[in-house]
Amino acid sequence: MCGIVAYIGTRPARSLLVEGLKRLEYRGYDSAGVAVIDAKNSPAKIQLAKAVGRVSNLEKRLEGTTWNGTMGIGHTRWATHGGVTEANAHPHTDDGVGIALIHNGIIENYAVLRTYLEQKGHTFVTDTDTEVLTMLIGELYDAANGVDLEAAVQAALREVTGAYAICVICKEEPDVIVAARKGSPLIVGIGNGEYIVASDPQAIIAHTAQAMTLDDYNVVKITRDGFRTSTIDNVEVTPQVLQLESELDEIDLGGYEHYMQKEIFEQPAALRNTLRGRLDMKDGRVVLGGVSAFAKDLVRARRIIMIAQGTALHSAMIAEYLFEDLARMPTECEYASEFRYRNPIVDDGTVVMAVSQSGETADTLAALHEARDRGALTLGVVNVVGSTMARETDAGVYLRVGPEIGVASTKAFTGQVAVLSMLSLFLGRRRLMSPQTASELQTELAMIPDKIEQILALAPEIKAMTERYVQHDNWLFLGRGVNYPVALEGALKLKELSYIHAEGMPAAEMKHGPIALITEGMPAVFIANKGAQYEKVLSNIAETRSRGGHVIAVATEGDKHIRSVAEDVLFIPECPEPLSPMLTVVPLQIMAYYAALARGHDVDKPRNLAKSVTVE
Ligand code: AGP
Repeated sequence: MCGIVAYIGTRPARSLLVEGLKRLEYRGYDSAGVAVIDAKNSPAKIQLAKAVGRVSNLEKRLEGTTWNGTMGIGHTRWATHGGVTEANAHPHTDDGVGIALIHNGIIENYAVLRTYLEQKGHTFVTDTDTEVLTMLIGELYDAANGVDLEAAVQAALREVTGAYAICVICKEEPDVIVAARKGSPLIVGIGNGEYIVASDPQAIIAHTAQAMTLDDYNVVKITRDGFRTSTIDNVEVTPQVLQLESELDEIDLGGYEHYMQKEIFEQPAALRNTLRGRLDMKDGRVVLGGVSAFAKDLVRARRIIMIAQGTALHSAMIAEYLFEDLARMPTECEYASEFRYRNPIVDDGTVVMAVSQSGETADTLAALHEARDRGALTLGVVNVVGSTMARETDAGVYLRVGPEIGVASTKAFTGQVAVLSMLSLFLGRRRLMSPQTASELQTELAMIPDKIEQILALAPEIKAMTERYVQHDNWLFLGRGVNYPVALEGALKLKELSYIHAEGMPAAEMKHGPIALITEGMPAVFIANKGAQYEKVLSNIAETRSRGGHVIAVATEGDKHIRSVAEDVLFIPECPEPLSPMLTVVPLQIMAYYAALARGHDVDKPRNLAKSVTVE
């Protein structure tokens, strides 16, 4: 949530910051702002501009300004404390020294600090927790007595609880940016005589591929000549430097109208990348370098607990079926936000596996810390290379699907399911699965990208069908077994993008209550591909039809019967049931995409959402 970008170098900062903010807009898009210091002005002053709405509004606001400063900070906001107003937009400034600050996260003890600062005579002009931190830094700043910007930031952060990634500038030190993080992502791109600090690599890779990661409680003071990294207690630390892997073309639209469309359609290529070099058909062994050092612990584990949120949770739920069915490994799956607060039992032999596209989701990270503190081996199934989860787990497997920019997760979902399918074979083959079964499943896995391509060719048909039903305000999504989580995912995609109320559930659950919702013509999407419970799903379809529900079925090619029981059928190629979620989900993604367009919504930036949920 919230995009952060800061620049110090020799180029004019203003346009660079705006360009960076555009790349980060998917992180939050209710308001935006920039602050620039021109060191050549004497005395130096902070030039500030903010606008409610998209970064393009900020850009308009900046038209005609002649800011020549070569350092500054920029922010795109996802509101937590305080409404969406220009005053509440970042950067925030203090009322004395001349400090400007941008922040991602939540300062939890802001109310106490605000009272303290008001007693000291400070006047607040916003409703935000961030202004409190800005004011606190200003209050502590005392350059004459050795408390410069770096020291004031360190001192202020020792007083706050909560999560933060911040960048701070001060007109008294016009050649310094101080940045810090705890619980929210922040990296520092290292260029040639310039530095770009950002919440995501997307704002950096146009300028440099070399970046330094910060750990929690790290503070970095950056000048044009170099940087110094320390803790909030001013103990020097050596930062880790890494090479960013994304290419610029991966984060551009490349001829598509929307990122979501691009990401749906690049799933075959993305999954080929996920699978590349990891399948070994000969003896059925999957090669997963990231976890091989822990193979023994995994094989001998007594149970696996999967933790995640949102779409990633749906992939984790699929893994619960796969690990138990294919590897006979006891597995539970839980919302990370629940796991972390419910005093979970983590006994000997428990492996806790986090699934996350961003690797930064606050609830999942906190649950991982809880698991680690209780002695669990922690694993990550993560997309973003070098993300906090990737760094803080004992081991893990990367998705390798490339950057996902659309707020609605699509290729990350299929990538997660592909990795978790491989993990189930990795475990299964080492526990009880015959080489032959393992090889057969690997062969099928390798064919998934081609089969997705066949489904994508149906997009015009799916579009036309979606447009026929898009006026309905209530939809049901139903599935059984490994496709029950796909029903949840189909409902999530539809509601987050088109704002249609949609519920997903196990098909059998419907008659325990939700069947009361069915009215004449209400769309009910059934995942009805061939599998162990196919006949049962047909019964649930009949129950829905006889109450006036309008059935849309996702079925297996060649299924002649299904046409006589469902009004609309979307066919997927044949595929073994355990691997079918990577196919059954695709028509549902396409439906959600076209439903949002038909209802006139911004597909890539749905209302109230942000890509990466870095606050609790
Ligand atoms: C779904 O489309 C959302 N983007 C959301 O549910 C997301 O999957 C969830 O917030 C978890 O994010 P993560 O994978 O980055 O941890």
